[in-house]
Amino acid sequence: MTVLDPATIRLSVAPMMDWTDVHCREFHRLLAPGARLYTEMVHANAVIRGDRARLLARTAGQAPLALQLGGSEPALLAEATAIAAAHGFDEVNLNCGCPSDRVQAGRFGACLMREPALVADCVAAMAAAAPVPVTVKCRLGVDDDADYSVFRAFVDGVVGAGAAMVVVHARNAWLKGLSPKENRDVPPLRYDWAYRLKRERPALPVVLNGGIADLASVHAQLAHVDGVMLGRAAYHDPYLLHVADAALSGASLQPRAALLRALRPYAEARLEAGVALKHITRHVLGLYQGQPGGRMFRQILSEGAHRPGADWTLVERAIAATAQADRARTAA
Ligand SMILES: Cc1cc2nc3c(=O)[nH]c(=O)nc-3n(C[C@H](O)[C@H](O)[C@H](O)COP(=O)(O)O)c2cc1C
Repeated sequence: MTVLDPATIRLSVAPMMDWTDVHCREFHRLLAPGARLYTEMVHANAVIRGDRARLLARTAGQAPLALQLGGSEPALLAEATAIAAAHGFDEVNLNCGCPSDRVQAGRFGACLMREPALVADCVAAMAAAAPVPVTVKCRLGVDDDADYSVFRAFVDGVVGAGAAMVVVHARNAWLKGLSPKENRDVPPLRYDWAYRLKRERPALPVVLNGGIADLASVHAQLAHVDGVMLGRAAYHDPYLLHVADAALSGASLQPRAALLRALRPYAEARLEAGVALKHITRHVLGLYQGQPGGRMFRQILSEGAHRPGADWTLVERAIAATAQADRARTAA
């Protein structure tokens, strides 16, 4: 089994389809130099047969970076894991938590929680395929599962097969009747299962995910588990990610404008390569969340970034609007 450095799992940003793409991760890395980052889920088949330049796009600065795979065929997952390792990913994570209909039809994601032996076979094949840590992101169970020992047996199975860490989204997935979005809110959170798992399996790195939305919760959870994974809160309020990372590393806080300007060389290189500004700036819209001029910042970027020829001067205009709003507030 390949071991993960515990210092690199204390804070991570969740895999989020359509959100944690290569541009988003570049921004998150600048905000949180110590955080572990995850790609969006990519199906093993797509990794093997698809457009790898797009699906596996990353920059060296994004390390430590995990590729999240979807799938349930050991041989395909093994092949995709070897490809991921050869492309420089630092971890390969198997999705056992996504509840969408499409994913259920493909027999992967959360429904795999009911197939522990198959998941163990998948993990064993992945772990044998490359010298890269293989990890699992799972729920507590599906539908009305309520037996902690079943959850623990699932985890024991994947760890026995070679998983180096589990990320626990600490609620069930309800496979019928809820949309994926509802499945992130409606089934109740049960952090105590993750705490108990960590108590009963002290050598196993356990990362807790689900509903962690402020710095106090980050600190509180780290008393029970090895790491916390932030999803929606990190995306919608990216400065929280910076605050959490700085608190854990002891680094001093940087102003929002400086963090954003650090993205400029990356953004300009991508613009040069033909990427439209809107694909990059859509991930920074929440940076001034709750700050003077925050709404103006978002508005300037969302209205201007899709115009042909939009470049970094638009971002400077949005930053200037926040500075002006701040001055107006101080003067009032
Ligand atoms: C837009 C969106 C896309 C998501 N896509 C994935 C995904 O590809 N793989 C995955 O394991 N979880 C996915 N999730 C779930 C998150 O990783 C996380 O488990 C969930 O949002 C709970 O954490 P939070 O309360 O901190 O947001 C997604 C969540 C959101 C909001």
